[in-house]
Order: sequence, then C-alpha cells, then structure tokens
Amino acid sequence: MGQAPHQDQERARVWWLIAPLLLTGAAVTGVIVLSMLGRPPAQVPVPAPAADRLFEYAEFRVSEALHDMGEPVPTWALTRPPTREAVALGRSLIHTGKAPGAAADAPRQSPYFTCIDCHNVTREDPVLAESNPAARLSYLARRNGALLQGSTFYGMYNKTGWYNGYWKKKYGSLVDQAQHDLRAAVQVCAQYCSQGRRFTDDELDGVIAYLWHRQYRVGELSLNEDGFRQLAAAFDRAAPDPAAAAVIRSGYLQVTPQTKGEPPADLEKGYGLDGDPKRGRLVFDLSCLHCHSGAPDAPAPSFADARAAAKRIIGDIGQRNEDNLYMILRNGTAQHRAYMPEFMTERLSDQQIADLRRYLAELAAGGGTHGDDAPGTGPAFTPTNPLDRAVTAVFESKCVMCHDHAPRGPAAGIGYLTDLPRLARSPLVEPTGGASTLASVIQNKTMPLQRWSGIAGPTGMSEADRRTILDWIAQRAPELAKPSP
Ligand code: HEC
Ligand code: HEC
Ligand code: HEC
Repeated sequence: MGQAPHQDQERARVWWLIAPLLLTGAAVTGVIVLSMLGRPPAQVPVPAPAADRLFEYAEFRVSEALHDMGEPVPTWALTRPPTREAVALGRSLIHTGKAPGAAADAPRQSPYFTCIDCHNVTREDPVLAESNPAARLSYLARRNGALLQGSTFYGMYNKTGWYNGYWKKKYGSLVDQAQHDLRAAVQVCAQYCSQGRRFTDDELDGVIAYLWHRQYRVGELSLNEDGFRQLAAAFDRAAPDPAAAAVIRSGYLQVTPQTKGEPPADLEKGYGLDGDPKRGRLVFDLSCLHCHSGAPDAPAPSFADARAAAKRIIGDIGQRNEDNLYMILRNGTAQHRAYMPEFMTERLSDQQIADLRRYLAELAAGGGTHGDDAPGTGPAFTPTNPLDRAVTAVFESKCVMCHDHAPRGPAAGIGYLTDLPRLARSPLVEPTGGASTLASVIQNKTMPLQRWSGIAGPTGMSEADRRTILDWIAQRAPELAKPSP
C-alpha cells in the first residue's frame, strides 16, 4: 500500500502494532492490517478465527472488559447495556438540553448553555494515558474538533473519579460525592457549570446511558505491545484476571488532571514566552469561536469580526479587570448566567495563551489572516461522478450547518462531510459490526439533528436523501477509500 493510514484511524494504528505480534507470518499480517482498514483484497484467504478475534477484542467496551476481568460494577454504573431509547434521550439532552422531539419553545435544561458548549463528545487526545495540551490542539485541529474548558465526554464513563484537583478546592463539599460517582458529577455540572436545573431520575439514566455509549474501546488504549499481548491472552481465557484489569486501567488516565493557572504578574509583559501566531490562530478558531461565533444562540459575545475583537482584547492587555485576556482565561468570569469558565493549564497552557496573544496582536495590527484558510481544509474536491454530486448536494443542504469549519466549528469533530475522499477514509465509514457509523445514523434517523447549540437543523430529510447517502457509502466510499497504488 502506497499510503500511510489516515490520521483519523487511531484504532487501526494500534492494531498495526499488535497484529504482527499476535499473528505469525508477514503475509498474514499484511492482510490483517489491510482488513483493519476496511479493504481486504478478496483473492487472499484471511485466517478467519484469529482475525475475527482481534477485531472483537479491539471493539470490546472498556467497562465490560474490566467487569469480565473481575472488577465490580461501580454503584453509579449500568449493570446491563442501555436501551436505544435511553441513549437517544441522553444524546438529545446533552446536545440540545431537551428530550427528543420536544417542542421548539420547550425550555432547555439550562437557558444559557447546552453541555456541548463546554464539552466535546468525541476523543480529543492522541494518547489516552497523557494530558498534553499541545498534542491535544494538533489532534483536534486534524479532526476539526473544538478546544473547550470541560474535558470530553468520550471515555468519561471509564474514569474512577471526577472534579479533581482545582475543582475540588473550588467547589468543596459540593463535589464530595461527585469525586467517585458519575451521576453526582453530572448533576453538579447540570446545576453549577451549566447554570440549569438538575436532571430527573429518568433523564439522568439517559445521560449515563449516553456516556456509556461514548466510552473507550480496548483497541484504542495507550498500551505497549506486551500489554496488548497480555490482554489478548486474558480475553482468550475468558476468566477474571486482576492483572489484566490493571493493564486496561494503565491504558488511559483514571482521573482528569486539573491545575489552575494564574495570570502573569505583569500583564503587559505576559508570560515572557515567544508566541507562535499559527498555533495561536488554532486556539482562536477551535476554542474561542466555539462560543464567540456570533451564531444567534451562541452563549458568548460575538467575535465574528475577529479583527475588531483582537483590537479590543490587545488594547486592554495591560488592564487588570475581569475581561482582560489573561484574567478571563485563567480566572473565568463570576458564575452567573452565561459566564465564561476558566481554562485549566492542562486545557490551555501558558505557551498557548502566548501563541494566542501573538496571533491577536498581528490581527489587531492589520496583519494575520482570518477566514481564508480554515484549519483542516484539504485540497478542494470537485465531484464529477453523479453519485458524488448527489451526496454532496444532500450534505450541503442537510448537514453542513453543523458539520462544517465555520463559523461555529463542527459537531462531533466532523467538519469534512463534503470532503468526500477524506470522509471515505475516515473511521465513520469503516464498518463496525456490520454498518458504518455514518450508515447507522442515517438508518436510525439520528442524523440530521433538529437543533444543536443554537443551530437549526434542516427541515425535512427525505427517504431519497437517505438512500443517496447509503448508496454512496455502498458504492463510492470503498472505491474512494482505496489506497493509491
Ligand atoms: C459553561 C461550561 C460547562 C457546561 C455548559 C457544562 N459543563 Fe460540565 N464541566 C465544565 C468544566 C469547566 C468542568 C471541569 C473540567 C473538566 O471537565 O474536566 C466540567 C466537568 C464536568 C464533569 C466532570 C468531569 C471530570 O472529569 O472531572 C462532568 C461529568 C460534566 N462536567 C458533565 C456535564 C453535563 C452532563 C453537562 C450538561 C448538563 C455539562 N457538564 C455542562 C464546564 C461545563
Ligand atoms: C464555553 C464557552 C466559551 C469559550 C470556549 C470561550 N469563551 Fe469567552 N466568554 C464566554 C462567555 C459566556 C462570556 C461572557 C461572560 C460574562 O458576561 O460573564 C465570555 C466573555 C469573554 C470576554 C469578555 C467579553 C468581551 O467581549 O471582550 C473575553 C475577552 C473572552 N471571552 C475571551 C475568550 C477567548 C480569548 C477565548 C478562547 C481562548 C474564549 N473567550 C473562549 C464563553 C466562552
Ligand atoms: C443541527 C446540527 C446537526 C445536523 C443538521 C447534522 N448533525 Fe450530525 N451530528 C451533530 C452533533 C452535535 C453530533 C454529535 C452527536 C453524537 O455524537 O452523539 C453529530 C454526529 C454525527 C455523526 C457521528 C455519530 C457518532 O456516533 O459518532 C455522524 C456520522 C453525523 N453526525 C452525520 C450527519 C449527517 C450525514 C448529517 C446530514 C444528513 C448530519 N449529521 C446533520 C449535529 C448535526
């Protein structure tokens, strides 16, 4: 194969590592690696049982794998997989603040925010066992994700504790229970971070079901070759094995580290770090614009005129007040209505603030660029094939209001629906358990959402539109995804 695996195929990359160890023979390995990428050459026989087992292990949900290896189910957790309805309820509450199908004028859980103003729902770290703000920013930039104050919901179900470090100090006894109980942690955020009401018991079950759904899979953990080998052997034996459970636990952070940053002593001077305007622009686009986009329902004042915002922020850089760049990023604003939460140093480092300041200073001085080369935009793809044209038209009319680069940032880290070659290579169209994620959200009618964080979804999605997407996946996605010879 002439092409490296696409960056989004994190899971596939892990199995590049493990496949050669668990299966002997270079030819076999090649076939497995290819089949992991969703395109086994039909003429070469695949040794079915071994390959099937690897697929199966990679897809194991971490909570279930831990339980199989003998860990008790935590008191707050689900004892069996949730129903589809519960997941849908949780998804809807988290994304829109309302139950599915609620009236347009029904009140949201919080009048000021939805959970996804401050939390991603997809993976945001290239290595799950590390919290590295620079690596996270690059990772999010590749996936058009947002950089937010709250940590992602992806894998939150698999942690052992919440509201650690600084938040424990800030919230005190309010978070005693939340320290080891995800249900309590959700309620604290619903009430305090979100400035809304607590969830009812049924709603809370839905939210937990959705978090269960967005948990880690074994194949994406940060383990070395020995770790994977040990796990595969334990899964083969299918008996409780505390050592294997410990290996799983070592593959990701058990709690999210939370360290409060401070504004620099001399605001004018800043942190004394050289800023990189390119990285600063990423911070502005992926983070600030998420809330300051200027969309009608956006929770924060508009920075849609980026130059004007930059002028104001840089003009005030020496002023010690709540709206000063350093003060607001490190201390947030007072928690009332639509406030701005502070960024922990693990989410936005002093270096990244220096980068942002440098970018804003260039923009304010009339330099810099904005709005031309949005991050993540690949070379333009001009559809000529009729099916490509048809599916592009559907995506453009039904999906890109949420899955696009600008102005709001993409939903679910998917900002490239109309970049068909990239979409075709992405894990979204990789078959998992029969149907690809893209196919299943269309079949189950989960997408398009009706509303997301201030953006209205399309009116009406016809059966013909659905058919077009499904046909494109069946006929063109595997075709487009073929590696160049
Ligand atoms: C205005 C921003 C904001 C909103 C809205 C918000 N959160 Fe949070 N949330 C945070 C911040 C900041 C933290 C602490 C840092 C972190 O997430 O690790 C946090 C923490 C959490 C945690 C604990 C995370 C951990 O690892 O310690 C959970 C669970 C949580 N939020 C759930 C929710 C849910 C559910 C909603 C919607 C009802 C929501 N949040 C809405 C900002 C927000
Ligand atoms: C989770 C949403 C959110 C994110 C992300 C966010 N902000 Fe804010 N920001 C707010 C809200 C809400 C306010 C209004 C706060 C208030 O009135 O208390 C605000 C206010 C501000 C203000 C003061 C008001 C103004 O117009 O000057 C500045 C400056 C600011 N934000 C800068 C930033 C920068 C820089 C970033 C990116 C690093 C950023 N914000 C990211 C929500 C956000
Ligand atoms: C109103 C906003 C909105 C519209 C319109 C919309 N989406 Fe989404 N989409 C979202 C959000 C938010 C998520 C994250 C939801 C989640 O993962 O639960 C998402 C997630 C997805 C996912 C990933 C699901 C997963 O479980 O990983 C796919 C695939 C997707 N959308 C495809 C589409 C397609 C195709 C369309 C058009 C037919 C569309 N979306 C229209 C907001 C929208």
